[in-house]
Amino acid sequence: MHILHSIHTLLPENTYVNNEVFSYTPFQKQKEIHVKLLRNLTPSLVAAIVALSPLVISTPVFAAETVDIQKGANLFRRSCIGCHDGGGNLIQPGATLFVKDLQRNGVETEDEIYQITYYGKGRMPGFGEKCTPRGQCTFGPRLQDDEIKLLAEFVKLQADQGWSKIE
Ligand code: HEC
Repeated sequence: MHILHSIHTLLPENTYVNNEVFSYTPFQKQKEIHVKLLRNLTPSLVAAIVALSPLVISTPVFAAETVDIQKGANLFRRSCIGCHDGGGNLIQPGATLFVKDLQRNGVETEDEIYQITYYGKGRMPGFGEKCTPRGQCTFGPRLQDDEIKLLAEFVKLQADQGWSKIE
């Protein structure tokens, strides 16, 4: 898994709690507290809390990923959400970012998502700095290659998880 790899090498201050890697952003702290809380609760209470709180569902292993997920989510909110709110597609209902459509449309890998995001396709504008022709590209700000890479990872991950809410 790309994201885990990059995050392990990128994070300056990793702390290990029960062999899981945690970074000490406020968000992670909050998550860690959730996890600790869960350990002290009875199973039925845990079930109730898990049902109520989508945050807690992800296991501590994924905690390291959430940093990149947050970055990806921010980029997605900035550039994509206008047409792909919640992973849907407001312009072309048969081309959502859910696995079912991605598969049918042959956009299954991270690389294919990257290509579409970079160069565009049909009424989807391209966001890459070298996207051409101009009419196929966004009139808004272009994205850096590494931002598109992160977006492709984010979209793939979200698709695989059925576009669960992230906040
Ligand atoms: C102006 C509206 C618009 C914006 C903004 C937009 N898209 Fe799209 N997107 C589309 C349309 C329309 C399609 C369908 C293109 C086609 O298949 O001809 C599409 C298709 C896609 C697909 C393929 C989906 C499938 O099932 O075939 C991916 C992946 C995708 N967009 C990612 C992104 C990402 C990432 C961003 C943000 C950087 C983004 N899009 C921004 C309109 C948009």
